[in-house]
Amino acid sequence: MCSIHTHQKRIVGYLKENIQINEREANIEANHILKFVLKKPISYLITNQKTKIKKTEDEFISKILKKRSKKEPLAYILREWDFYGETFFLNKNSLIPRQDTELMIDLAINQFDKDSRLNILDLGTGSGVIGITLSKLFPNSKITVTDISSKALQVANKNIKQHKLKNIHSIESDWFNNIKKNEKFDLIMTNPPYVSKDDPHLINPELKFEPSNALVSADNGFSDIFKIIDESPKFLKVEGRLFIEHGYNQGVKVKKYLQKKSFCKIKQYQDLNQKIRVTSGTKIKV
Ligand SMILES: C[S@@+](CC[C@H](N)C(=O)[O-])C[C@H]1O[C@@H](n2cnc3c(N)ncnc32)[C@H](O)[C@@H]1O
Repeated sequence: MCSIHTHQKRIVGYLKENIQINEREANIEANHILKFVLKKPISYLITNQKTKIKKTEDEFISKILKKRSKKEPLAYILREWDFYGETFFLNKNSLIPRQDTELMIDLAINQFDKDSRLNILDLGTGSGVIGITLSKLFPNSKITVTDISSKALQVANKNIKQHKLKNIHSIESDWFNNIKKNEKFDLIMTNPPYVSKDDPHLINPELKFEPSNALVSADNGFSDIFKIIDESPKFLKVEGRLFIEHGYNQGVKVKKYLQKKSFCKIKQYQDLNQKIRVTSGTKIKV
């Protein structure tokens, strides 16, 4: 029987060799696998490096690695993924939450008082990570999450239930179509599909496991972003704000389009790689 430390090294080595991911990614995945198999938090793995793991656990790890070697994303193998320090249920009907999207949550908590009573909308919620995280961090606020995909919404609803939240509800909707016409939000957050169908990154075999309608958008990736910008003013309060996550090379166009649609106080935010990945605008006119 080997220790947690030895297994960690073995998993990292296997992943680097068989699916060609870098050291940092392999370490993150190794931690996810060990946390999942041992049913312990990451902090346990760090403080119990010499603990031996059981044969059955070892066999379970090998089974996971075998699936992973076929490039199936780890999040779909484990049917769960972490976002902003919480674990979310996941399946192939919803996008795997990306760490970059955590920037949206940082922006919300830096710019709004956590005790305020906001009306918040998360458009295109997928597994529900943005809306659910906001519902925890803004317990006095009301959160609506939407998605066009009923199967993705089933995932979001399961997460809402698992996280035992009462201030959040979901609506199946093509962007704003099923939102009450007189409803006004303080904050709309969205991570819409924004990848162009010709984007060379789409040949990545791991992306083929994810729903393409969660990734790809027409008009070079701008179609859904522009639709959301067009419609948002009708659903925002005066001084209400729209935050859009977009591709690293889309910031200039998104900013120009927000200006064209009379949004004010337009701000742009960088991800951990210093790329502009979120643009926000404020509605000022009634
Ligand atoms: C990039 S994923 C984001 C998922 C989740 N918010 C996240 O950050 O992990 C985009 C989501 O938008 C949804 N979507 C695509 N087209 C839509 C539409 N017309 N109306 C509403 N949601 C849509 C997809 O089903 C998908 O769940």
